[in-house]
Amino acid sequence: MFVKEGETVELTDGKNTFFIKLKKGEIFSTHKGNIKHDDVIGKEYGQSVRTHKGNKFVVLKPTIYEIIMYGIKRKTQIIYPKDSAYITLRLGITSGMKVFETGVGSGALTIVMANAVKPNGVIYAYEKEISHLKVAEENLRFSGFLDYVKLIHRDISEGIDEGDFDAGFVDIREPWLFVEHIKGVLKKGAPIGFLVPTVNQIIKLLESLERNGFINIEVKEILLRNYKPVAERLRPEDRMVAHTGYLIFARNV
Ligand SMILES: C[S@@+](CC[C@H](N)C(=O)[O-])C[C@H]1O[C@@H](n2cnc3c(N)ncnc32)[C@H](O)[C@@H]1O
Repeated sequence: MFVKEGETVELTDGKNTFFIKLKKGEIFSTHKGNIKHDDVIGKEYGQSVRTHKGNKFVVLKPTIYEIIMYGIKRKTQIIYPKDSAYITLRLGITSGMKVFETGVGSGALTIVMANAVKPNGVIYAYEKEISHLKVAEENLRFSGFLDYVKLIHRDISEGIDEGDFDAGFVDIREPWLFVEHIKGVLKKGAPIGFLVPTVNQIIKLLESLERNGFINIEVKEILLRNYKPVAERLRPEDRMVAHTGYLIFARNV
């Protein structure tokens, strides 16, 4: 597969990794030297380019995982791939769906869900902070998913214009305040998910979901343990991320 202008590529020398969106005539500067975008365009993925100092970088097609972990700007706490991959599957998000999301934050979850609904589906993504929305827009453009997302600058307490959503996900501080409202914009039977970082929040959310007649309520937490990839002494890393957030899922009836 050959590299085209407009694509976001990963450049790595094994130690240093950079993500750049290619534009003819531009130059990318690193401490290992400058790389001309023109030298990358037309290369086959897996081939390498050299900086003006002669250092070699391999050109790779980044995975969505890599873009989220290392490529996007973070204006807020983000939903990590270990959670966003599960969320997307758990909500049954597939091509062509109309999905509700709030808050957008840096757009990390939005990227994963947009990948699932493309090419005909749309994520309607509500965010109250304009500065967060601008970063999310930049991240969606950078990752190539902006066409599948409608970004809406709105505090959802002011209303949700669209309706008839196939699924929804809510990542805001006080989701229980909006459960009744969100229920009104979801299709009957549609799945909804939430992420909250504390147990106190789960309790308030559960009370609200029960009050509003949601069924099949589940609370989950996903733990991911990394291993040191050393064949002679294979063992887990000493440290791990012990907590990101709790996931709550339910069905609207
Ligand atoms: C933790 S961030 C979301 C991160 C995002 N899920 C990601 O993966 O990048 C929470 C966002 O919710 C937004 N937010 C909080 N309350 C809101 C509301 N009532 N309406 C719309 N957005 C809201 C905040 O401004 C913030 O950007």
